[in-house]
Amino acid sequence: MASPPPPPPPPAAPFSLLLLLVSIALAAAQLQQPPPQGDVAALHKVFREWGLSLPADPCRPPFVKLFPKDASIAINCNCSDLTNEGCRVTHLKVTGYRSITRIPEELFSLTELVSLDLSNNNLSGSITPNIANLNKLELWHFNNNQLSGPFPSESSSLRNLQSLWMFDNNIDGPVPEFVANFTNLKDLRIYGMKLRGPISNKFSNLTNLTYLMIGDLGGDNSSVNFTGVWANLSVLSLRNCGLTGEFRSPIWRNLTYLDLRSNNLSGPIEKVFQYNRSLQYLYVGENKFNGSLPPGRPPSLRALDVTYNSLLNGSLPNNFSDGMMNYVGTSIAASGSGQSANISLLKCLGVEQCNQKDLTNLLSFAVNCGDKQYTSPLDPLQTMFNDDSTDLGAAGFHVNTSNNWVVSNVGADPFSISTGIVSTIKNISGTDMPNLYKTARTSTGSLWYYVVGLTSGTYTVQLFFAEIVIESESGRRLFNIDIQV
Ligand SMILES: *[C@@H]1O[C@H](CO)[C@@H](O)[C@H](O)[C@H]1NC(C)=O
Ligand SMILES: *[C@@H]1O[C@H](CO)[C@@H](O)[C@H](O)[C@H]1NC(C)=O
Ligand SMILES: *[C@@H]1O[C@H](CO)[C@@H](O)[C@H](O)[C@H]1NC(C)=O
Ligand SMILES: *[C@@H]1O[C@H](CO)[C@@H](O)[C@H](O)[C@H]1NC(C)=O
Ligand SMILES: *[C@@H]1O[C@H](CO)[C@@H](O)[C@H](O)[C@H]1NC(C)=O
Ligand SMILES: *[C@@H]1O[C@H](CO)[C@@H](O)[C@H](O)[C@H]1NC(C)=O
Ligand SMILES: *[C@@H]1O[C@H](CO)[C@@H](O)[C@H](O)[C@H]1NC(C)=O
Ligand SMILES: *[C@@H]1O[C@H](CO)[C@@H](O)[C@H](O)[C@H]1NC(C)=O
Ligand SMILES: *[C@@H]1O[C@H](CO)[C@@H](O)[C@H](O)[C@H]1NC(C)=O
Ligand SMILES: *[C@@H]1O[C@H](CO)[C@@H](O)[C@H](O)[C@H]1NC(C)=O
Ligand SMILES: *[C@@H]1O[C@H](CO)[C@@H](O)[C@H](O)[C@H]1NC(C)=O
Ligand SMILES: *[C@@H]1O[C@H](CO)[C@@H](O)[C@H](O)[C@H]1NC(C)=O
Repeated sequence: MASPPPPPPPPAAPFSLLLLLVSIALAAAQLQQPPPQGDVAALHKVFREWGLSLPADPCRPPFVKLFPKDASIAINCNCSDLTNEGCRVTHLKVTGYRSITRIPEELFSLTELVSLDLSNNNLSGSITPNIANLNKLELWHFNNNQLSGPFPSESSSLRNLQSLWMFDNNIDGPVPEFVANFTNLKDLRIYGMKLRGPISNKFSNLTNLTYLMIGDLGGDNSSVNFTGVWANLSVLSLRNCGLTGEFRSPIWRNLTYLDLRSNNLSGPIEKVFQYNRSLQYLYVGENKFNGSLPPGRPPSLRALDVTYNSLLNGSLPNNFSDGMMNYVGTSIAASGSGQSANISLLKCLGVEQCNQKDLTNLLSFAVNCGDKQYTSPLDPLQTMFNDDSTDLGAAGFHVNTSNNWVVSNVGADPFSISTGIVSTIKNISGTDMPNLYKTARTSTGSLWYYVVGLTSGTYTVQLFFAEIVIESESGRRLFNIDIQV
């Protein structure tokens, strides 16, 4: 049998005295501040690499705040256990820094973090497996960065997550099935990336979901069988997820916002009216729903989009006012009565050789997006831009019957009310038509202008842009333009 190891020798007294002297000297040199240790030291390294300044003791007020919404940096700590390495960092938010492109390793030693928000920076590369160290996280927001690669399988250990926002990145790979194990999840937003379907049926287990936003999936189609009895569900957005088959779901009594746009869902449209006690926004455009709409507007409903469901027919429901309903691209338009000039133009959308009897004023026309009719006194051509100031609400269209064009909008941000028209009071320089640029239309869904009844030929399309919303930073506006004939 081996004998037990001898006890360590006592340290040599003169040596420890020397150490003590050295550390006293160091402390004096640093104005009595001991060098930071543990989490605080790690945080200093992280901030130094990001080129951001940090007070020597970030755990002391005024820095310690519980995440004011508008703060770009917020830190919170737990200092109750001072026996080992000082305060532990529990909350970290650093957002809106385009200079932040990577996450220093030291961040993953902050193992007491419950909340980590690095949204709206410029992070790139893939998410490191070390994220698994942070298994106390309840909030993980990396949205609006340039992250790529798949979700690391190690992130499956983040079982305490309640809020996971990863939208608007370049992340690819399958929609991670392990997310279905995060049974505390209340808020999941994974869209605007390169993820692939299908969505696992295990998602039906996520009973605490209140906000679910998945979108823009490539890969295989899914049925809607992954939906479950989600009693707290308030916002459901499954736009462009390759959903096929008949739409069916439990009745979600707290649903206020439902977006199923751009899928291949079929079945009777009445199915999506079953949440009629709470639903305010209903977007089901670009699907294959059939049947006809209920005769009246459910009282809670503020916006209805059924555009491009070619199988829909029947008549228009009552009690919808302008900006509450868009039915362009359905047979409802064909059967509609009332605003007859509008209806006959709508019937022509997508139909060749339509409306071609009165083309004299169609040779040339112009539109002032979001504002009244306008001709600039400085414009040598004296171009007259048509009035396009109609508020289209969250789902609506407007028909200009004299020049035969239609503007159509669907979409609204579930979390902020916007009229869809933005404007600036600043002077626009460098143009002889300054007022033209002061207003614009915006849309979170789809915004189309249609010219009805053009004959075949060569046309010149001129688009006039000014950035009047994001004024502070360059490189943040991405958009595409689609011109179809
Ligand atoms: C702080 O940490 C201690 C353990 O070190 C824990 O008991 C306490 O609940 C924590 N406080 C908060 C507000 O999380
Ligand atoms: C974001 O980071 C990339 C490098 O990853 C860099 O090329 C780009 O300029 C950065 N963008 C901004 C707006 O700073
Ligand atoms: C989900 O959790 C179960 C039970 O702990 C485990 O067996 C399974 O592998 C997990 N699924 C994924 C995809 O991580
Ligand atoms: C999730 O829901 C279950 C009941 O289904 C509940 O016991 C649990 O506390 C909820 N979690 C959170 C974080 O609300
Ligand atoms: C839901 O989770 C339970 C265990 O918590 C599991 O037995 C069941 O198979 C899961 N349901 C689905 C559809 O995955
Ligand atoms: C729903 O929300 C309530 C109140 O916020 C909460 O008590 C409950 O645990 C949540 N989850 C479920 C499944 O009802
Ligand atoms: C997906 O599409 C294929 C081919 O269109 C079809 O055979 C299959 O049933 C669809 N899957 C689902 C889940 O609807
Ligand atoms: C979805 O569920 C329905 C009803 O349980 C079932 O008939 C159908 O086959 C399921 N579809 C898929 C693709 O799993
Ligand atoms: C569901 O909505 C009702 C009425 O709007 C509200 O009283 C209730 O608290 C909500 N339930 C949950 C769990 O959010
Ligand atoms: C709908 O299905 C058709 C084939 O039936 C396919 O070409 C199209 O891409 C699908 N659209 C969506 C949005 O999944
Ligand atoms: C609607 O489509 C479903 C199949 O998705 C079909 O069973 C039903 O008969 C159709 N209803 C009408 C009114 O066309
Ligand atoms: C609401 O939906 C239920 C079915 O879920 C239906 O019985 C009722 O008539 C609908 N009410 C209205 C006003 O549409």
